[in-house]
Amino acid sequence: MAPPTLLVIGGNGQTGVEVIRACAASAAKPPVHAFCRTPSKLSESDAAHCVSVIEGDARSAEDIARALEQAKPDAVVVAVGRSEDLGPTDVRAASAKALMDSVAPGEKFDQVKIVVVSSVGAGGTKLHIGFGIGMLLGMRLKHVLADHDRQEKEIWDRLADQKNRALVLHTTGLTTGQPAGEVCIFEGKIPHPRIDRAVVARFIVAELCGTCPNFGKAISITTKK
Ligand SMILES: NC(=O)c1ccc[n+]([C@@H]2O[C@H](COP(=O)([O-])OP(=O)(O)OC[C@H]3O[C@@H](n4cnc5c(N)ncnc54)[C@H](OP(=O)(O)O)[C@@H]3O)[C@@H](O)[C@H]2O)c1
Repeated sequence: MAPPTLLVIGGNGQTGVEVIRACAASAAKPPVHAFCRTPSKLSESDAAHCVSVIEGDARSAEDIARALEQAKPDAVVVAVGRSEDLGPTDVRAASAKALMDSVAPGEKFDQVKIVVVSSVGAGGTKLHIGFGIGMLLGMRLKHVLADHDRQEKEIWDRLADQKNRALVLHTTGLTTGQPAGEVCIFEGKIPHPRIDRAVVARFIVAELCGTCPNFGKAISITTKK
């Protein structure tokens, strides 16, 4: 069977580029398109792994619709945000709304799968760490987590009876440059506080190129100790 075609929203972000690299490194080699607000931020070598690099604003339903039209993806990976900015924001929710305008049931691209890189602490999960650390972290991340909450709600609500098209990943703290390790899916207490973006990316590509076993739900993931 042909591998799925992917469109990565936030393609030049730290997680987005890892998804592009994971596509290139996987045996299935799924074709990947990068959707970037600033294509020049994507390195030449990462751009070379992409079928196309599509410039656009993830808040714009028109830009997203144009990207879907161009890429004709089987799946969209949403890795949008601004990790270092912990202030009030609505970019994740606004881009989810823009995406759903094209992929909600009854819309033109209502066959497309959706993978969302979200965070532990969002979507009803708890930052269950202990010694009050989770509570402090929750306060620090409150605006980001609220934006992820609205992002996830937008997607689940508008998918209605097609929830099996989506996978939401509640990741622990994201790192870069520690690509070894395997994914641990967990509930409740966080077994390990960090997961590398490359590990998350490999997991996403494996899900999409396999039988999508976790689709239809939100799962919490971290690194296996
Ligand atoms: N950092 C963590 O420890 C952590 C933990 C759990 C979950 N997460 C979540 O994981 C997601 C990805 O994180 P990351 O570290 O990969 O983020 P990142 O490196 O900051 O990348 C975010 C991407 O979103 C893009 N973006 C922002 N606004 C956009 C817009 N209006 N239109 C198009 N693109 C836009 C950025 O493009 P520009 O470069 O052009 O701005 C960038 O490509 C985020 O939602 C974050 O909240 C992070």
